[in-house]
Amino acid sequence: MVGLEIEGGKPLRGEIIISGAKNAALPLLCLGLMTSDKLVLKNVPKLADTVSMEGLLRHHGVQVDREGETVIMTGGASQFDAPYDLVRKMRASVLVLGPLLARYGEARVSLPGGCAIGTRPVDLHIRAMQALGAVVELADGYIQARVTHRLSGGRVVFPMVSVGATENALMAAALAKGPSELVNAAREPEIVNLANCLNAMGAKIIGQGSGNIKIEGVDDLQGTSHEVIPDRIEAGTFAIAAVMTGGDLTLHRTFGRNLDALLMVLKKTGARITETDDTIRIVAEGRPIATDITTDPFPGFPTDLQAQFMAMMCVAEGSSRISETIFENRFMHVSELLRMGADIQVDGGVAMVRGQRSLSPAPVMATDLRASVSLVLAALTIKGVSQISRIYHLDRGYSRLEEKLGNCGAILRRIKAL
Ligand code: EPZ
Repeated sequence: MVGLEIEGGKPLRGEIIISGAKNAALPLLCLGLMTSDKLVLKNVPKLADTVSMEGLLRHHGVQVDREGETVIMTGGASQFDAPYDLVRKMRASVLVLGPLLARYGEARVSLPGGCAIGTRPVDLHIRAMQALGAVVELADGYIQARVTHRLSGGRVVFPMVSVGATENALMAAALAKGPSELVNAAREPEIVNLANCLNAMGAKIIGQGSGNIKIEGVDDLQGTSHEVIPDRIEAGTFAIAAVMTGGDLTLHRTFGRNLDALLMVLKKTGARITETDDTIRIVAEGRPIATDITTDPFPGFPTDLQAQFMAMMCVAEGSSRISETIFENRFMHVSELLRMGADIQVDGGVAMVRGQRSLSPAPVMATDLRASVSLVLAALTIKGVSQISRIYHLDRGYSRLEEKLGNCGAILRRIKAL
């Protein structure tokens, strides 16, 4: 098992170019199922998850070619079954459901199975498809969905905000017959990026980025060329790393306004933040001051930055209350941070963190994508050598992490068999 060895205790100083957003690229890639024309996606990060999604699309019959960070897709799908062995690797595979139903009238998608951060059901995805006229059955561990002629526009009300279910509903409604309305839709920038690409392909969508999205279904979608937005979670991860290590980082190719919630909190911890349209500079002013957070759907504090923020609070001045409201089990990083000497008490969805002047090196294990990067951040603050195992989780969501951090003074290297 490949691990990561980190010699910490040095401030991160330098510049990082932020890659395309994993969570924008994954639904955008599914649009390759919705047209036979050439669809060109630029700034697609090369990650384990995007490579998995490209593999799934090829399985469906889409011609997928990659030239660096550009992915070219043509041909559309010729088979509509997403098997367990492909879907279990990545929950986002469920995003082929809406596109397949909308364009081909049928889909058989394996249920994703659980993952480290919770059961993560797909009931909201299924209810959205049913609201658009699909007949959906669950059998043999699969979602079996079909529609006699064509999806028909309808009102989809989400009882709770769901990024993925909003994306599936948006893609399905784009080709349904007649008007649709998504109520209590997710407002993430990745959904705006997806809707804008659909509109460039001929869809008629308004209200993306608000909780109420209206779609006028069209008969077909054409090809286009579209750019994946920068990864706000990668940018936020590095911003937190700069503060934790007492450093000074300039992040390029960012959309600051997509990180307002984090930047506001970082200013409360004492960091100095300056922004231009597409750069953010973070300068630490001494040890971070402990600050409370509660995760919320966008534009609130992102759950995908909770683990990283907790790592920072472990070395902050004072105590912090961290409330995780999106997932029922997103504190998997706590036990590993405790091994590094952190002082954290968990009660249900709330963690109380008492900041220490420093943590201590210890071998730790990554459990999920964001938990694994929180351990990297913690190790960067520790004088001495820390080792993190199962870092394949990292490769799912961070491209060239060692190179980006290494260019800013971090000392980290991959090692065999931990
Ligand atoms: C997306 O996951 C992201 N993944 C996640 O990022 C992110 O944490 C999450 O949104 C919340 O922002 C991608 O975009 C590929 P949800 P998704 O549906 O769509 C419950 C990362 O680290 N729910 O918004 O799966 C669900 O259990 C990943 O990059 C249902 O109950 O999240 C959760 O508690 C991790 N039924 C809550 O809603 C459903 O049908 C929010 O989930 C769907 C979701």
